[in-house]
Amino acid sequence: MTRHFLRDDDLTPAEQRQVLELALAFRDDRHIRTPLAGPRAVAVIFDKPTLRTQVSFSTGIAELGGFPLVVDGNLAQIGTRESIPDTARVLGRQVAAVVWRTHAQERIESMAQHAGVPVVNALTDDFHPCQVLADLSAVALHRGGVGALAGLTLAYVGDGANNMAHSYLLGGATAGLHVRVGSPEGYRPAPEVVAAAQRVAQETGGSVTVVGSIAEAVADADVVATDTWVSMGQEEEAAQRELPFVPFRLDEAALALAAPDAQVLHCLPAYRGKEITAGVLDGPRSIAWDEAEFRLHAQKALLTFLLEAR
Ligand code: NVA
Repeated sequence: MTRHFLRDDDLTPAEQRQVLELALAFRDDRHIRTPLAGPRAVAVIFDKPTLRTQVSFSTGIAELGGFPLVVDGNLAQIGTRESIPDTARVLGRQVAAVVWRTHAQERIESMAQHAGVPVVNALTDDFHPCQVLADLSAVALHRGGVGALAGLTLAYVGDGANNMAHSYLLGGATAGLHVRVGSPEGYRPAPEVVAAAQRVAQETGGSVTVVGSIAEAVADADVVATDTWVSMGQEEEAAQRELPFVPFRLDEAALALAAPDAQVLHCLPAYRGKEITAGVLDGPRSIAWDEAEFRLHAQKALLTFLLEAR
């Protein structure tokens, strides 16, 4: 059966552990596995802006022995010039896998339904699961291994309704974390995602909590994460997306409420002075740069898993 990674809970807890272990192994030796040797091509398609994702997937696919075929979504016009099912059938006849950054989650679900090769979510409006694999492996690196993840408390503060919040809920619960989301009213996670994360948490011993203040969210947390208040596609709402979020800024006072050895995550791009202060992002608790590096290792591990699972 062709496996896809469209949302974080597409990997079972055991499979996620396997991928995270492999990500750490790729960090130690970037050429341990070459499942794309040939080279076989992987289509990497962008309907939204990108830097880290394009570079990390392109580098990773090349290091796996393959060829990254980067497609500009503006030229491809998937779903308008050609339907998603037809595009999927065409791509599936040519490439080993499809990596897609797009808007609605239904678009990538439709691609996966018809491609016949693994499809990977490189960010949608609803989820950013590759980022959370990178985040979990970066935390594991600093905590002495993947086995140390279960039982940690991860607090995410800011826009609770965005792709990162949803992926922390699902991916964190899969890893057995206690995930707390602190966000203003009107920007809380989708109830169906919270419910799905709760179901996974029951299996892994983790938990999921949604709270209305930054203090409740970060209290004694082991890992504190935030993200932009204005996600890609929301630029026109930038003005109204400022005031409600100001109390959720990750600053030195908020971080002081977390555990003394807490790590700070930010998926980047970061807006210093908005969702996070420069002192926190550039300070000693931040592992944001390791996190960015782990995009490469984690995505290589994920592609290896999906290609070998077929
Ligand atoms: N929530 C952000 C994540 C960027 C990596 C966005 O969708 O723009």
